[in-house]
Amino acid sequence: MADVEANMKIDDRRKILFTPQRIQKRIREMVTRIEADQQGKELVLVAVLKGSVLFLADLVRAFSRQLAFDFIGVSSYGSSLASLGVVTLEKEISSDIRGKSVLLVDDILDTGRTLGWIKEHLRRFSPQEVKICVLLEKQRPRVIEVQADYIGFRIPDVFVYGYEDKFRHLPYIASLREGEKPPALTGRRKGWRVWGRSTR
Ligand code: IMP
Ligand code: MG
Repeated sequence: MADVEANMKIDDRRKILFTPQRIQKRIREMVTRIEADQQGKELVLVAVLKGSVLFLADLVRAFSRQLAFDFIGVSSYGSSLASLGVVTLEKEISSDIRGKSVLLVDDILDTGRTLGWIKEHLRRFSPQEVKICVLLEKQRPRVIEVQADYIGFRIPDVFVYGYEDKFRHLPYIASLREGEKPPALTGRRKGWRVWGRSTR
């Protein structure tokens, strides 16, 4: 825990958008709403690999009802900051969702390409319904029109890291400062210190 606190202290000079406490509180609120909406339905959470895995785990543990979960893998983002236009299926779901209520879970709704593509793809398995749950929704025009049904936080169109996609070991979410490059593009692999002032 001391390490986490040290990380947060240093990162505080960056922009911490959401603390671990705030994320967990919001997840509990979201689950309360989802449970109310999904009463009496057979619920399957389908999480988009890999960025949403931690979010999925926290969501599942906040539920007080029985549910199932599965994974789907697509590639759409590559290592670039801008979404590539093409979505390809890398891992198909492995459970039967016919007639069931599907909650598609992802970390971030950005251009809408990923979730738009997956939502359409899942229709071929004849689920009763497909709803979308994202931790973060970027405030920007969508390339593909997708509406999330459950949204953790709305954020400006900035690159974020921590908890979800980049630097998954961090329990909080922060944004890159203007002009900063994400870790994947810096070529340095020593963890959060790439952003620490001491290394600049
Ligand atoms: P979309 O297809 O453009 O909506 O992109 C959605 C995917 O891009 C998400 O599942 C994220 O994994 C990834 N993504 C979008 N913005 C960010 C970001 O700021 N940080 C990390 N990953 C991001
Ligand atoms: Mg993702």
